[in-house]
Amino acid sequence: MKILNLGSMNVDNVYQVDEFLLPGETKLSQGLSLFCGGKGLNQSIAAVRAGNEVWHAGLIGEDGGMLLDKLKENGVNTSLIRQVPGKGGHTVIQVNRQGQNCILLYGGTNRMLTHEIIDGIFDAFGSEGAVLLQNEINLLPYVIETAHRRGLPVFFNAAPMDAQVSECDLSLVDWLIVNEVEGRQLAGDCPEEEILSVLSRQYPSMSILLTLGSRGAVCLHQGERHTIGVCSVQAVDTTAAGDTFSGYFMYGVLHGLPIPDCLRLATAASALCVGRAGAADSVPLKSEVDQALAQGSLEVPLARREG
Ligand code: RIB
Repeated sequence: MKILNLGSMNVDNVYQVDEFLLPGETKLSQGLSLFCGGKGLNQSIAAVRAGNEVWHAGLIGEDGGMLLDKLKENGVNTSLIRQVPGKGGHTVIQVNRQGQNCILLYGGTNRMLTHEIIDGIFDAFGSEGAVLLQNEINLLPYVIETAHRRGLPVFFNAAPMDAQVSECDLSLVDWLIVNEVEGRQLAGDCPEEEILSVLSRQYPSMSILLTLGSRGAVCLHQGERHTIGVCSVQAVDTTAAGDTFSGYFMYGVLHGLPIPDCLRLATAASALCVGRAGAADSVPLKSEVDQALAQGSLEVPLARREG
């Protein structure tokens, strides 16, 4: 099944630091690297490296040539990407000694979508396939409604969380992908262990993937709950680990794998991702993930069914 990802594309300016900057502080970084990123682009690369057919759509700016090249060289269909005047999406990312990051995002052309452009994208994509979305583009509520109206299942990663997510009709979403912070905000600040039950009471037909960072992930699908832990790996850079998880998990779901297998695949892929620097470039190939699973080199935990 082909995937339409109408999502952000960012140039990531990644600075190596000992510790994150504090308010009012100025300090020298230990290095600067430029990477292709954006939750949209990263998830397209993860989905295509996992083995899906992916069409990426969206707007790049005058500085977006490297983003287009990166998607093309990975085999993503880029016919629905337009280059428009203006500065494209970009970030300033600090990566500390522990491999953690903090990200300052500039939306740029990612946020210049119009209703006409969105309609044109859906017309060109057609009515077969699934839609993958994140919250780094504008007009997201309209995109979700359009996908649903056209009969396309919607996988929505509600990240980064902001006011636009509360304008979206989540009853039109088939799969919601959130981390614990996003999940709690959507579920009205309940305790973490109640996120899934609160959201599933509100949206009974929605499946939910809740990622918990270094504690693994929980999934609620068709009334069943599955949990998985993490592999222990030395983190180099956690950027795009969540995006890798989403892209690989979606591959599993679209290929009809049982949920525990989807979770193991996504867990192994994101473990390989955190061992490498960068965003899109750190997403592993499916052959690398399969090898790690077959050889047991990552010690990927088994997913457990709860309840
Ligand atoms: O999820 C990681 C991504 O978030 C980075 O590549 C950055 O561009 C931001 O969008």
